[in-house]
Amino acid sequence: MTGDFPSGSTIYFAEWIPVSLTYNYQTTIMFSTVLFSGLSIIGAIIYFIRYKYKKQLNIITSADQAREILKSDQYVRHISNAWLINTLSIVNPFTIHDKSLLKTFKNRVILILANWYKEDKYEELVFVIGKRIDYHIPLLQLNNRKLCLSKLVKQVTLDSFLTGVLNVNANDDLLTELPDLIIHLWKNRDDKKAQTRLKELFVNNNDQFTQSEIWQQIQTILSNHSSAISNMGINDFDEKISNPLNIIVPGWETMWRVVFYSLLELLRHPKLLEELSLQLNDQSTSSQNCLLLECIIKETLRLYPPTKNIYRTHIETGEEVRIDIQHIHHNKSAWGSDACTFRPDRFQEKLTDEQQKHYLPFSISCPARHKFAYIFAGAIITELIKYCPTFTIAEESMLPSTDKLLDVTRNSYNDLLILV
Ligand code: HEM
Repeated sequence: MTGDFPSGSTIYFAEWIPVSLTYNYQTTIMFSTVLFSGLSIIGAIIYFIRYKYKKQLNIITSADQAREILKSDQYVRHISNAWLINTLSIVNPFTIHDKSLLKTFKNRVILILANWYKEDKYEELVFVIGKRIDYHIPLLQLNNRKLCLSKLVKQVTLDSFLTGVLNVNANDDLLTELPDLIIHLWKNRDDKKAQTRLKELFVNNNDQFTQSEIWQQIQTILSNHSSAISNMGINDFDEKISNPLNIIVPGWETMWRVVFYSLLELLRHPKLLEELSLQLNDQSTSSQNCLLLECIIKETLRLYPPTKNIYRTHIETGEEVRIDIQHIHHNKSAWGSDACTFRPDRFQEKLTDEQQKHYLPFSISCPARHKFAYIFAGAIITELIKYCPTFTIAEESMLPSTDKLLDVTRNSYNDLLILV
């Protein structure tokens, strides 16, 4: 590389430094330019390397590796979930790193959910769900007995969770606006207007929440762990521990999806829907002991896990991982060549060891995984089908053919209409 200097002499790059010592105006400019460019290039390289390693996620698709990470104390979730504190003001085991808080919170949820395994409580839950469906369908119904399935499922699931589980009778504003606000904030994390509206909805329902014994218990657990929460530099402590989303997000955000995708698959498989309706109309079969319904829910959770990805950060190295649950659930060597086909009867038989290893819709620790998720989703699906005897897709709406998987991106099938 060569360059012409004012002295008229041609010098080589390696000779610039001694030449620049002559300090005439142009050599100074040249020297500064080279120095500046050099530093910029080095800066850009450093930035690129840091960005690459900081942003690059290690994607985990092996079931063995996923389970190792989920069990390990070295990988934590609160770092990847920090945005939940800033956007939704959530303080719970998803965002606070504290073993005692996790254990107490989880055990309390296990006890609360176990309440509904008893026959009489289960019947009570089914009754409440039926009532909530009765309430929402006429409100959502358009002309010609049509209504938007996604709105119906989101509102009924939220209302049933609040009324049936938390014993909170929220007002219509909260029931109709909250689902879309949460989903909107998941994508638009800095939308301050939406955050303010979310808070307003809870303030307007404050009386209802303060009367709920279960909600009080959850808040007490959080206040008993105030030092763990403060240690994480969290401000507005009182406001955050009294945020109902601390329990609503884990319980509702996952639940509505499994109900919705189960119903979408039933709409695509009319024979299966007919068979299920027959079994559910038989007085001797309740949704709690209907094996076909359980298989449909399990297969939906396999094909469309509500938590598609689980994020973890290595506490020492800062390495970030994304466990691709959906990929693991679609693994052909575990599930066979029809791994991407909706076939609930695969759950009629005992799963092989490989399949059990490749089934992680609840990670390894969700308190609803043994029974409650099936009871609750099953009761909502049953009551909806019973309420809507002509449960079919309206002629102006469409679903992909059954040889394709349903779209799982947020807001998909948002405008799908059904006939009720
Ligand atoms: C179909 C329904 C559900 C699905 C698919 C589901 C899925 C999950 C998943 C994947 C995790 C682990 C997340 C992570 O490690 O980052 C989790 C944890 C948790 N879930 Fe669920 N969940 C469901 C229903 C519920 C319900 C109804 C509740 C409570 C009312 C609940 C409460 C929790 C809690 C407290 C945790 C944290 C427990 C721990 O990590 O030890 N979940 N759930």
